[in-house]
Amino acid sequence: MKLFIDSADPKEIASLAATGLVDGVTTNPSLAAKSGQSLFDALRAICDVVKGSVSAEVTATEAERMIQEGKRLAKIADNITVKVPLTWDGLKACRALSGEGLKVNVTLCFSSNQALLAAKAGATFISPFIGRLDDAGHDGMAVIREIRQVYDNYGFSTEILAASIRHATHVRDAALAGADVATMPAAIFRQLVYHPLTDKGLAAFLEDWKKTGQSIL
Ligand code: E4P
Repeated sequence: MKLFIDSADPKEIASLAATGLVDGVTTNPSLAAKSGQSLFDALRAICDVVKGSVSAEVTATEAERMIQEGKRLAKIADNITVKVPLTWDGLKACRALSGEGLKVNVTLCFSSNQALLAAKAGATFISPFIGRLDDAGHDGMAVIREIRQVYDNYGFSTEILAASIRHATHVRDAALAGADVATMPAAIFRQLVYHPLTDKGLAAFLEDWKKTGQSIL
């Protein structure tokens, strides 16, 4: 499973990319606004440190303009994936952009029927929003499982990118449900390594080792 960071903050992304475990990045207009930087500068800086897919979202709502915006965003770097919303216009733009060899992430997906349309439109990634579904009283993970089954039934190669992740358990459950990618805020990525028994076990090993008076180096 690929692990992406859901952020438009180049510094935050660079610090996590240093682990060697960041496979990509997703941004959106809200994250771009939060970063307080020019979108193009931020995307350039992010693409400098992460060589995997970096999603950059269009803000037009009409297909022709989405296509123009997508092409412009794609010129920033070879690893830009153009992100379009799951509307009829977004699907049209997805078909056109993917037809020209660009990678497309179809975002704001909340159902398996929407995911089916995105796959048929040639999406590279489909982004179901687990947390927002849970917030609205639905079962976000059930949608991931449904999409996995639909894609497997028909051999679609569109990757399921579990988005709107709220906690580490979402990452585990998305992996169990067969999502290809999980994108998460930096804080959740950092939490993935943590287990209290790891810390406790390491402290005991080091204490015992100290008693031997030996040194490996
Ligand atoms: C994914 O690409 C989105 O940027 C993101 O996961 C949305 O998450 P949110 O529901 O926490 O805003």
